Amino acid sequence: MSLLPISIYPDPVLRRKATRIENIDDEEIQVLIDNMIETMHEAPGIGLAANQVGRPVRLVVLDLECREPGHGLLVLINPELISASGKTKSEEGCLSIPGYFSPVTRYEQVEVRGQDREGKVIEIEAGGLLAICLQHEMDHLEGKLFIDRMSALSRDIFKRRWKKKLKEEGEQEQPCLD
Ligand code: NI
Repeated sequence: MSLLPISIYPDPVLRRKATRIENIDDEEIQVLIDNMIETMHEAPGIGLAANQVGRPVRLVVLDLECREPGHGLLVLINPELISASGKTKSEEGCLSIPGYFSPVTRYEQVEVRGQDREGKVIEIEAGGLLAICLQHEMDHLEGKLFIDRMSALSRDIFKRRWKKKLKEEGEQEQPCLD
């Protein structure tokens, strides 16, 4: 297993719509799954989508054990939202936007269908942090980030701060923030 570099905003791969995985049992996909699990744990993070390691395919890994015991490692391939209800607001962050956190409104309860790493269809009914995390990671597969769900004003403030931060970190070129 090996650690993968995490793509940082505004890397364009984060804006790509991920493609469906048909060949789940291919070694390449299985290795990607293992490497993403290791990368998420090392970060440390509670969720990681394949776009974030430069591979826009429909694969996410989650592990909420440290925050919600009983919700351990979950590998989800080709996930789809099949039902959603309620609204909840909570503070989110993202490994691709390190050091930045903001409240985001999401569905409170979700039902998601996908496949596990053996290709078996699985259905997950979730509330609480798992529901939020599933929506956050599934957004990544659509090329969407949690900053897109903030108010226009908060997003403007974020972009200004982020540009400054990148500049301070020595980025030569001024990136065009989407
Ligand atoms: Ni994220």
